[in-house]
Amino acid sequence: MSVKEMKRILVTGAVGQIGSELTMALRARYGGENVVASGHRTAPGPELRDSGPFEFLNVSQRETLEAVVDKYAIDTIYHMAAILSATGEERPHLAWDVNINGLYNVLEVAREREMARLFCPSSIAAFGPETPQIDTPQETVLRPTTMYGVTKVAGELLCNYYVKRFGLDVRGVRYPGIISSETLPGGGTTDYAVAIFYEAIKHRRYTCFVREDTVLPMMYMPDCIRATLMLMEADVDQLVHHADFNLAGLSFSAGELAAEIQKHLPDFVCEYAPDFRQQIADSWPRTIDDSAARAEWGWQPQYGLAEMTTDMLEKLGQKHAEGTL
Ligand SMILES: NC(=O)c1ccc[n+]([C@@H]2O[C@H](COP(=O)([O-])OP(=O)(O)OC[C@H]3O[C@@H](n4cnc5c(N)ncnc54)[C@H](O)[C@@H]3O)[C@@H](O)[C@H]2O)c1
Repeated sequence: MSVKEMKRILVTGAVGQIGSELTMALRARYGGENVVASGHRTAPGPELRDSGPFEFLNVSQRETLEAVVDKYAIDTIYHMAAILSATGEERPHLAWDVNINGLYNVLEVAREREMARLFCPSSIAAFGPETPQIDTPQETVLRPTTMYGVTKVAGELLCNYYVKRFGLDVRGVRYPGIISSETLPGGGTTDYAVAIFYEAIKHRRYTCFVREDTVLPMMYMPDCIRATLMLMEADVDQLVHHADFNLAGLSFSAGELAAEIQKHLPDFVCEYAPDFRQQIADSWPRTIDDSAARAEWGWQPQYGLAEMTTDMLEKLGQKHAEGTL
């Protein structure tokens, strides 16, 4: 596959949990003017708005995507716009439209313009109840039971098809649940692992929507951003996989997370009231084997539970003190 330089980048879903921090990291690396942030309906915060171009577009409406791509002569897309697992179960038709039709539009617009590179993330939601839950292998059963998972499996297959059939350089990882302190998550099943920190700081109390013994694969945002940039800058000749890399950070139960927070805030109380998201969580892996990512592009996570908890509480504590939480 020929290697083209990434010069003008578009981030879709740039107002979202990952997109907002990814855009700032890309702007720091490639220059603010060279990284166009795009959102759907939600207005960007001042940092995102003032550090480079911002546009609204709807990935399901191809012409709105094309207009932005052509206006800025975009050659690289980080496609972060999506409907996540919990929202996807409440609005399955919308999840299909955004995650499948939106992805197809992104791939087609990129193919037609012979773009340099594309990042299209998948998720641990691509797995299902028949997948081995411990050290889930790279190559395994992909039979998800959520609409979100169905769109992620189809998306991986579609992206890999574009690599083989059209020589388009599409890359992607199966993100675990992402924990972060800047932008709240947008309707996923692992949102409790973020909400627990906010509630611990604000009210010293949290009611968790999965059981105490629920273990899921997670990752702290700095690792997530580093993994994304690493994969996109990896030597394409070293890649055997393309849009479906397993990616691991850390795994812990909801109870272990609460106990770690209690080490810092001894009066923090966590209660458990599982809702429909428990069933989704039960269908996902507990730990992930990411040896392909380690071998093909040198992936290694940096944050464990203790480091992440300390950093989250410090960052959110500061915001709380400033009155911005
Ligand atoms: N955050 C996680 O824990 C996690 C885990 C696994 C995979 N992922 C994947 O990573 C990517 C980014 O996720 P995130 O957590 O930042 O999601 P998010 O929900 O925080 O952000 C997604 C953004 O997409 C936008 N969007 C929705 N419909 C759109 C449309 N029609 N056109 C344009 N934009 C639209 C939303 O406004 C939102 O800002 C997604 O593909 C998601 O499936 C995330």
